Amino acid sequence: MAVLEIQTGDVPILRQKAKPVKHVDDNVLRLIEDMFETMAAACGIGLAAPQIGVPKRIIVADISQHFPDCPPVALINPLITEASGEELGEEGCLSLPGLRGIVRRASSVTVHALLPNGEEAELSGNHLMARVLQHEIDHLNGILFIDLLKPEDQILLEQEEAKEASN
Ligand code: NI
Repeated sequence: MAVLEIQTGDVPILRQKAKPVKHVDDNVLRLIEDMFETMAAACGIGLAAPQIGVPKRIIVADISQHFPDCPPVALINPLITEASGEELGEEGCLSLPGLRGIVRRASSVTVHALLPNGEEAELSGNHLMARVLQHEIDHLNGILFIDLLKPEDQILLEQEEAKEASN
């Protein structure tokens, strides 16, 4: 296992469409292990292969620090097959250090993917997990969260926060 360098800024690898994985072989499994280790070392809750310079459709996510019942996942060739609801949430990105923003995302998603054991699976996520899955799958399509920021959403959440603060 190895901690790999995370690509940062507006570099080409973060802006290209990643390629589907044809076979889950030892190289892919090693890459997934390295992605988990790199994500943990950076205190992240999600990481996509392009972020470590590999243009393949692989993501990992681990929100168990916030939700202990939610196990870490590694998804190969993930595809969102259902999305519903809408919510605002604050996001950052390991590839955009220092930047945070309010992003409007579906509150529930179902993802079809290949698992590291070679089996196909449907996985559903709500709220934070849904957000991480959408954020990481966006990375596979060259999309960064800063592309999705809308001024009206920033204002909306500020109002929400002000309301909560006054309760
Ligand atoms: Ni990111």
